[in-house]
Amino acid sequence: MEDPKNIAFAGLTILLTLYVVRWYMNPLNAIPTLGGSSLPGLSYFAAFKFMRNAKNILNEGYCKFYNGTYKVAMADKWLVVVSGPKMIDELRRRPDEELSFIASVDDTMQAEYTIGRGSIMDPYHVDIIREKLTRTLPAVLPDVVDELSLAVQEYIPAKDDGKWVTVTVMPTMQHIIARASNRAFVGLPLCRNEGFLELAVTFTRAVLKDRDMLSLVPRPLKPLVGSMVSQTKASVNRTVQYLKPMIDEKKALMALNGGDWEDKPNDMLQWLFEEAIRKENPDWSIAERILLVEFAAIHTSSTSFTHAIFDLVAKPEYLQFLREEIEPIISVEGWTKAAMAKMWKLDSFLRESQRCNGVDLTSMTRKAMKDVTLNDGTFIPKGTLVVAAQDPTHHDDTNYPDANVFDGFRFSRMREHEGEGTKHQFVNTSVEYVPFGHGKHACPGRFFAANELKAMLAYIVLNYDLKSAGDGGRPANVYIGTAVLPAMDGQVMFRKRDASAFA
Ligand SMILES: *[C@@H]1O[C@H](CO)[C@@H](O)[C@H](O)[C@H]1NC(C)=O
Ligand SMILES: *[C@@H]1O[C@H](CO)[C@@H](O)[C@H](O)[C@H]1NC(C)=O
Ligand SMILES: *[C@@H]1O[C@H](CO)[C@@H](O)[C@H](O)[C@H]1NC(C)=O
Repeated sequence: MEDPKNIAFAGLTILLTLYVVRWYMNPLNAIPTLGGSSLPGLSYFAAFKFMRNAKNILNEGYCKFYNGTYKVAMADKWLVVVSGPKMIDELRRRPDEELSFIASVDDTMQAEYTIGRGSIMDPYHVDIIREKLTRTLPAVLPDVVDELSLAVQEYIPAKDDGKWVTVTVMPTMQHIIARASNRAFVGLPLCRNEGFLELAVTFTRAVLKDRDMLSLVPRPLKPLVGSMVSQTKASVNRTVQYLKPMIDEKKALMALNGGDWEDKPNDMLQWLFEEAIRKENPDWSIAERILLVEFAAIHTSSTSFTHAIFDLVAKPEYLQFLREEIEPIISVEGWTKAAMAKMWKLDSFLRESQRCNGVDLTSMTRKAMKDVTLNDGTFIPKGTLVVAAQDPTHHDDTNYPDANVFDGFRFSRMREHEGEGTKHQFVNTSVEYVPFGHGKHACPGRFFAANELKAMLAYIVLNYDLKSAGDGGRPANVYIGTAVLPAMDGQVMFRKRDASAFA
């Protein structure tokens, strides 16, 4: 009989050898590593460092490997980072068969265990957002403004008595944005249902939390941990309960009248219904897509808007400049999409706020579907994630003079140059401006989001005075990995202004 200890020892030695050999054979070794060592075991320390220090590491990489490529460690994978316009354009140009956007979402969202793989692989809601929602914006925007004006008055409790009230910005903006957006997504009366809105907001938070946790879990344990933590099924189930009466009514009307009927709503729920009715389990499918749309819209928009409010309070001189632009336009045009298009300074302010503090330090995530050699000669093995360094691009003085200074009207001044009227508007992407991504997969909801955020900032600026609740500075961001979060407990003071002329 062999000593079982010896067998265990032999087994362990073989495993260790295989591990080291596999590490030596890994083609990713050819790509330089930043933020620590890529040696087996040590990369976990590097991953920990990147979780806490991504902003500085990305900056260092941008200087050292401009026009090129390096890698950083995440707990469960390597992230290859490209820097400079030439490389960003390379990511944009590569077809999905080589560098896939969808597969990257599947991967980075840990989709199998969080939001479900099915809805990512069959993204019919994306076409609905890109085409139908964008095309109906002129009709939808006045409803959204109606909803946001009610929600702002409800969640920012300043009265006509001229007293200042203190508001915790991020949670307040989450609620206002959830309500205003849902006026366009599910319509009245559901967009005012507290339970449904709570579900929409917490779903986003839950998915992000699960995702961050799962990314720390080693691959073989993911299915087990995933099945224990995932709240998606329960959330979809609850969403079905909320939507069911409306879906059943649509089914009945459809059975009665075929595809068309009088007063047929022209909103997201109706469009999803018309697509989903051909699917296996329409109710479930609609609920899943509604939650995905909530996920895509609420967190990103409220983060961006909170950044903008912090910027405004740190630079209060902009309040007056913005009012001078907004008041005459609203007087003539009302709260329309055409009015929003005329507000170049407001547009510029939001674009600049996104440039300085986005939602993420990286952008344009792609997953290699086969071995790919990038134009700088870097070999990217199949299965690797590649991202563009967004934050350093946005803070590069060659792209933006005085890039580290917040200059709210930087872009509206640029738009005054001959032939550049649309190039520098909020929704336009470029190799120097990537908060929405760039190219074919640029965020399809950005036209809706930009108009909603503009209307909301215009409404707040006209109806309220704002000032810092602290020392006047901008509350410090929180960085977790590549995620940029505005201070969650950051507060701002609001006072009602007499703006009855613009109601
Ligand atoms: C980066 O590439 C661009 C375009 O090829 C070139 O003009 C530029 O000089 C390069 N910059 C550096 C620092 O290598
Ligand atoms: C949804 O929840 C109900 C109870 O609220 C439960 O009876 C049902 O089985 C659930 N359905 C699914 C598909 O999870
Ligand atoms: C800017 O965006 C608008 C709207 O999508 C588009 O029509 C225009 O071509 C873009 N302009 C540039 C210069 O990218």
